[in-house]
Amino acid sequence: MRPTLSWTPTEDLPPGTTDLEPVTDALSTGGVLVLSGAGISTESGIPDYRGEGGSLTRHTPMTYQDFTASAQARRRYWARSHLGWRTFGRARPNAGHRAVAAFGRHGLLSGVVTQNVDGLHQAAGSEAVVELHGSLDRVVCLSCGTFSSRRQLARRLEEANMGFEPVAAGINPDGDADLTDDQVEDFRVVSCTVCGGTLKPDVVFFGEAVPPQRVEHCRKLVRESASLLVLGSSLTVMSGLRFVRQAAQAGKPVLIVNHDPTRGDRHAVTRVALPLGTALTTLADRLGIPADDEAAAPSGAVTAARSRCRKESKRVPAHGQAVENGVPEV
Ligand SMILES: NC(=O)c1ccc[n+]([C@@H]2O[C@H](COP(=O)([O-])OP(=O)(O)OC[C@H]3O[C@@H](n4cnc5c(N)ncnc54)[C@H](O)[C@@H]3O)[C@@H](O)[C@H]2O)c1
Ligand SMILES: [Zn+2]
Repeated sequence: MRPTLSWTPTEDLPPGTTDLEPVTDALSTGGVLVLSGAGISTESGIPDYRGEGGSLTRHTPMTYQDFTASAQARRRYWARSHLGWRTFGRARPNAGHRAVAAFGRHGLLSGVVTQNVDGLHQAAGSEAVVELHGSLDRVVCLSCGTFSSRRQLARRLEEANMGFEPVAAGINPDGDADLTDDQVEDFRVVSCTVCGGTLKPDVVFFGEAVPPQRVEHCRKLVRESASLLVLGSSLTVMSGLRFVRQAAQAGKPVLIVNHDPTRGDRHAVTRVALPLGTALTTLADRLGIPADDEAAAPSGAVTAARSRCRKESKRVPAHGQAVENGVPEV
C-alpha cells in the first residue's frame, strides 16, 4: 500500500489570522517548543510538499518500500538526489531560521524539533535541534549500519559518473532534481566502502518509521514545555501531528504559523497566516530581540551541519518496521 501523501480538510476550520499577540505572549512566557516543517525553508528556495506550488503536485517522493525493493528505483533516486544536492547543499538559512535561533539564544525555547532534512536551523545557529526525519547530510549502509558523510558520497558519485550533467526540470524538497527515466539510465550507484551494502540517505522516507527513541525524546520535550509553536507545517503526517495532539491533550497551548490550514488547526489556540520570515522577524522585534544577528550563526546550510558526520561504525535500528511517515491517521 502506498502512503497517503495529502490531506484535505473535511471540517470547517477557523480561518487564519494576522494577529501575532498570542504567539508573542507564549514566547515572552518562555518554555516554547518549536516544531518546524518545510514551510520555514521555502524562503530559502527549498520548495515545500503541500503549500502553493508544492512539489507533490508534480512529483511523488520515493518510499522506503520502493527504495529497498528495486535497484532501478535506487538508481533513479541517487541520480536525482546527486544532482539536487548541488542546489540543496548551497541553500542558506533565512530570516525565519535566524529568528528561531535568536529565540533560543535568549532562553525562550525548550527545544526545536524539525521535520526538515536540510540542516538550516543548525546553520542559523539553533542548538540541540531534533531532526525528526534525519538529515540529508548523512548516509547509512542498510547492511552494516555504518554512517558516512554525504559530502564524501557526492565525491564518489562524481567520480563514478564523469560527464553526468543532465538538465533538471526543478528541485524537490527531499533534495532531488526532476529527471526523466532516460536521463538516469546510465547513472552508476556506489555501495558501502565497508561491506559493499546498499547506501541510503539517513532520512526517514515516506512509509518508514521514525526511530522510537527519537519519538520518545520529543514526547519528553513536549511534556517539559509550556507551549508548542508549529512553524510551516501542514501537519499531514502523523510523525509531527502526534506532538500537537499530545500538547493539546495535556492542556498546553498549541500555536501555529502557517499560510494554509493544517491538520492540527482544531487543536490550536490560533493559526497565524503570515509569511514566516515576516512573522518571526516581527515577533523578535516585539520581544526586543535582534533576530538578524548573523554573527552568531555559522554559514552554509547542510554543509555546515556536515561536520557532525559520524564516521565511526555504528549500528542503526532496523528500518521500515512500521509505516508511519506519510500516513495520516484517520
Ligand atoms: N526543507 C526540507 O527539509 C523539507 C522540505 C519539504 C518536505 N520535507 C518533508 O516533508 C514532510 C512534512 O511536511 P511538512 O508539513 O513539513 O511540509 P508541507 O509541505 O506538508 O507543508 C508546508 C506548509 O508550509 C506552509 N508554508 C510554506 N511556505 C510558507 C511561508 N513562507 N510562510 C508561512 N507558511 C508557509 C504551506 O502553506 C504548507 O501548509 C516531512 O516528511 C519532511 O521531512 C522536508
Ligand atoms: Zn556497509
